[in-house]
Amino acid sequence: MIIDGKKIAENLRETLKKQIEQIPSNQPKPGLTVILIGEDPASQIYVRNKEKFANEIGINSKVLRFDSSITEEALTKEIHKLNQDREVHGILVQLPLPKHINSKNIINQIEPSKDVDGFHPINVGNLSSGNDALVPCTPYGCYLLLKEVISDFNGLNAVVIGRSNINGKPMTQLLLKENCTVTITHSKTKNLKNICQGADILVASVGIAKLVKQDWVKSDCVVIDVGINRIEENGSKKLVGDVDFENVKDKVKAITPVPGGVGPMTISCLLQNTLKAYQKINSQK
Ligand code: GUN
Repeated sequence: MIIDGKKIAENLRETLKKQIEQIPSNQPKPGLTVILIGEDPASQIYVRNKEKFANEIGINSKVLRFDSSITEEALTKEIHKLNQDREVHGILVQLPLPKHINSKNIINQIEPSKDVDGFHPINVGNLSSGNDALVPCTPYGCYLLLKEVISDFNGLNAVVIGRSNINGKPMTQLLLKENCTVTITHSKTKNLKNICQGADILVASVGIAKLVKQDWVKSDCVVIDVGINRIEENGSKKLVGDVDFENVKDKVKAITPVPGGVGPMTISCLLQNTLKAYQKINSQK
């Protein structure tokens, strides 16, 4: 079975749109501001899509664009302004940042209640402590896709390939919360294929094109492919995941395609986080 991330993401946006339509007209709408620095082509596309989908469902979305020469100090000031802005409920700084800016310092400046990426240490800590948190969008999207095909996670063997702060680590926390037995692996893991062969759930998020092959997976495995790798094949440019989709798709219980799997979910989860931040901020007024 192929998991249709595009459709599931669309349904989530539809649900969020209806919730936003319920907000009385005398109240402000949820606001999301994305900060984009420099000219990275992939980031430009991601940010354009975030803005488009946010506005489509009734979130006031703005993009603040800065030249890649902006200093860490100037960027910090911009974030502090957004922290104070009552019309802004979600702040996202698109990564990667130029080399002269320390991403950790910048993320630490975002007010945790507006940190819709879930990257601030307060949100990371709350997620791992089992407290209410804004959860990073990519792993949350993966989790919602898994829920489409798995009704009982208890005791399942989950293998996560990749240990990033954006996906691998928070993915592990979400699976642990569901009582999975989680193995976190990465590019230096020995016997990776062997470990994957025991997986009921496999989340591939390591950035190696078509790494996972048919003989890496069991036939009842659910495979979530987070990879976005641009490769050249037979003279044409292609976008492929960390899983060799054509090789694996007919063997496993379910699999996400690239594109059209995790990617669209990530944006819908960002919009969900923005609405969640809005509701929480308003409930504390
Ligand atoms: N760049 C790639 N993925 C992400 C993400 O989830 N959030 C941000 N802010 N930047 C990214």
